[in-house]
Amino acid sequence: GRVAAVVPAAGSGLRLGAGLPKAFVELHGRTMLERAVAGLLDSGTVDDVVVVVPSDRVREAESMLARLRNDDHLVVVATGGAERTDSVRNGLAALTATHGDAGAAVYDVLLVHDAARCLTPAAPTRRVVEAVRSGEVAVVPVLPVVDTVKQVDDDGYVVGTPDRSGLRAVQTPQGFAPDVLLAAYDAAGDIATDDAGLVERIGQRVATVEGDALAFKITTATDHARALTELAGSRP
Ligand code: CTP
Ligand code: MG
Repeated sequence: GRVAAVVPAAGSGLRLGAGLPKAFVELHGRTMLERAVAGLLDSGTVDDVVVVVPSDRVREAESMLARLRNDDHLVVVATGGAERTDSVRNGLAALTATHGDAGAAVYDVLLVHDAARCLTPAAPTRRVVEAVRSGEVAVVPVLPVVDTVKQVDDDGYVVGTPDRSGLRAVQTPQGFAPDVLLAAYDAAGDIATDDAGLVERIGQRVATVEGDALAFKITTATDHARALTELAGSRP
């Protein structure tokens, strides 16, 4: 079976504050979206990609991604929704529609990967795909939490301190058995901050594999500056 990745890239990037949707912001000569998609295809384990972009950026995305599309790699562009959950749902629908009656049966692994994590190296992607192929139905790449984390009430008072050794920070790409991800999205009434959260809600087990520091999410201008530092000296 093939591996497909849905790349939600339809956010507005308010916290970065670049004045345009974050995925279309350039990073050392290439947009974050192009870097995210190329990173997946270059990992050697991803066959097809669906990018989900704002409706007024479809043509721009098409031309930007045209050179990544070839006989081996299908690259589909879909239109995003109000929330990330809506955007991923639209991407899954576009992927399924592309194959007609075959639907998602073409794939044995579906990944969901934030365009905002555009420096993600191949290794965590490979670990996620491998874990799904070996039988896990949902897999997330994680890192240990370095800060102590507090639970607070509505007024900001601390109500508890969870044991840090049992906490993990979660990254993307997250990987799924296709039937489980599609069922989770069918059941999803509400929004979720990550896709595995929807799988948890339908009672399926989520496994973890080691993430990677370079898979950090570019959210603020500080993150953008860090990404430029990581890319310094590399080819555009
Ligand atoms: N995303 C999306 N559709 C939305 C919201 C977010 O496809 N309606 C995507 C973003 O483009 C990003 C990923 O989901 O790749 C993670 O979201 P986030 O980092 O929050 O990006 P933005 O929503 O664009 O940023 P902000 O919240 O600062 O506006
Ligand atoms: Mg957002």
